[in-house]
Amino acid sequence: MPSEPSAAAAAAATLADPSLQRIVEALARSAAVPRPAAEPFLARVRRHLPALRAELALLYGHRGDFEAFVVALLEQACGAWLERSAALKRQDEQRERDPAWFQSERLIGGVCYVDLYAGDLRGIEACIPYFRELGLTYLHLMPPYDCPEPHSDGGYAVSSYRRVRRDLGSIDDLRRLASALREAGISLVLDFVFNHTSDEHAWAQAARAGDARHRDYYFLFDSRDEPDRYERTLREIFPEEHPGAFSPLPDGRWVWTTFHSYQWDLNYGNPEVFAAMAGEMLFIANLGVDFLRMDAVAFVWKRLGTSCENLPEAHALIRAYNALARIAAPGLVFKSEAIVHPDDVVRYISPAECQVAYNPLQMALLWNSLATREVNLLQQALEERNALPDGTAWVNYVRSHDDIGWTFADEDAMRLGIRGFDHRQFLNRFYVNRFPGSFARGVPFQDNPATGDCRISGTCASLCGLEQGDALAVERIVLLYGVMLATSGIPLIYLGDEVGTLNDRSSLQDPAKAGDSRWVHRPRRDAARQAQRLEAGTPAGRIYAGLRRLIEGRRSIPEFGGGRLIGFRTKNPSVLGFMRPGEAGPVLVLANFSEHAQTVAAEVLSGMPPRVTDRVAGVALELSGGLTLAPCQVLWLDARRA
Ligand code: GLC
Ligand code: GLC
Repeated sequence: MPSEPSAAAAAAATLADPSLQRIVEALARSAAVPRPAAEPFLARVRRHLPALRAELALLYGHRGDFEAFVVALLEQACGAWLERSAALKRQDEQRERDPAWFQSERLIGGVCYVDLYAGDLRGIEACIPYFRELGLTYLHLMPPYDCPEPHSDGGYAVSSYRRVRRDLGSIDDLRRLASALREAGISLVLDFVFNHTSDEHAWAQAARAGDARHRDYYFLFDSRDEPDRYERTLREIFPEEHPGAFSPLPDGRWVWTTFHSYQWDLNYGNPEVFAAMAGEMLFIANLGVDFLRMDAVAFVWKRLGTSCENLPEAHALIRAYNALARIAAPGLVFKSEAIVHPDDVVRYISPAECQVAYNPLQMALLWNSLATREVNLLQQALEERNALPDGTAWVNYVRSHDDIGWTFADEDAMRLGIRGFDHRQFLNRFYVNRFPGSFARGVPFQDNPATGDCRISGTCASLCGLEQGDALAVERIVLLYGVMLATSGIPLIYLGDEVGTLNDRSSLQDPAKAGDSRWVHRPRRDAARQAQRLEAGTPAGRIYAGLRRLIEGRRSIPEFGGGRLIGFRTKNPSVLGFMRPGEAGPVLVLANFSEHAQTVAAEVLSGMPPRVTDRVAGVALELSGGLTLAPCQVLWLDARRA
């Protein structure tokens, strides 16, 4: 279980603490906190101030103006709360009464780019009937904020958090869309891209022009001396675009850019940056956002001599933002995006930090099992690395807008006799179709000859064999989704996967996209395929029917909500097994990752009732003689008493 170093400190600090008293008294006197309107706000301040102050003290406590800083932050938060709409405040209250709401089996997610999927924000609104047809109750829109053109890292280089990219609509369109989604029972997920801004953000422009105050918002260096010192211990994230973590400016200075050279890392050592970004965060929350996707959490704090990833201060920073959200936008849920070693991924997950988190391990190991036809690593991960603290949940996915990186733990692999480095080389060759017999049609991403590192781009369908016409491609897609939708957490579908959208190779010729192969798996919505979804004979129709059955099944099985999952060893190396237990008995999930029929012996199934219903195909099955799974078949065996 992840530890929370400062939880004890927070608990120890009660409001009897004189410094907390002074903060509360200052707020009581403050004109920015009008009474009685702000009474509920003050009640939440009393509850969450010990935690907020403890986290902030880890970052900024050494500063002489620390208390005044906390007071000013809370005044700002009060302003944001007073601006929060009545509908959102009602929802806040409901969620405070039911904090486990997002663990429901009925939460089903989708993700898309606004422009590529529907043209603009109004186009997304027009898709709501389709989202409902599919069964979605959660929608992640890739960042729609103002950004540089044509290079914006798909919106992850933000020029203003308060303006929408002009061709997508206006901030009012975004607000309207949020309400329309809420009325349709669909939660809205937007990004908080807080590690960096674009180089066109007003702060960056002021810094470039020589404004001293804004220079301290970023990491700007007059020479290579400091960058060289830092780079001794840094990992390269986008080596194809620029080596190392810094980019040169025309005037000879260097700026910290973990990602692209136009994405300038923010300097959270400066408390003014924390406060400024708190304002942006609460502005976004008040648009009507339910989940805030905390982008690139691993990188937000830097310290010389370290990897500058996953530092304790990064956690304190996120927990401080979380405490602030509990005070000013209590219905908001944080989702962490940490694509790092599995030990580090879980350290971001707690009710006080990020309540939900991407599960990159499960994602990578699904693909691993398809390539090796063995379930060993995935079975191990489900048994040993899936459990999470109460009040938190995974966000599971088969693929995202980003690359597939092989982020399993080498130690785990070694226990199964698998050498991490060599195995990743195999997986990369397999998925870019440089391995004899591979069905996959992926493209390398950030191939780094110096380290041998590489990741993979490709849509689900192209990686599963649909592009090359493999006979089992549809079964593989349904298999991956059938496992993912049955595990514990919020399932997230990359929209387009449900109709088998293929790679967009034209992006490799487009000058705005050619440098970043992730665009291969970010095609426009394929209207022709979507239209075929109801035609039974087409691949699109078969995939859509398969996923619809899985989604309906998930929504109707309460045991699929919550976090309980127990491994079930099938004694067949190609067949994954796990149970979702419940009061009335379990649902047993079995998944055959090979392209041959596989059997599970009768004695393995002896604890199960003799007759069960497979909820995937909707048929009754006899278990007393063992079971044979068809190639790439997934079964949800319902053993619950009626
Ligand atoms: C996140 C996004 C990715 C982006 C990066 C930098 O990892 O998912 O698309 O490139 O952050 O913002
Ligand atoms: C790296 C980062 C991750 C980011 C990805 C973008 O893996 O760790 O945060 O999403 O690059 O491709």
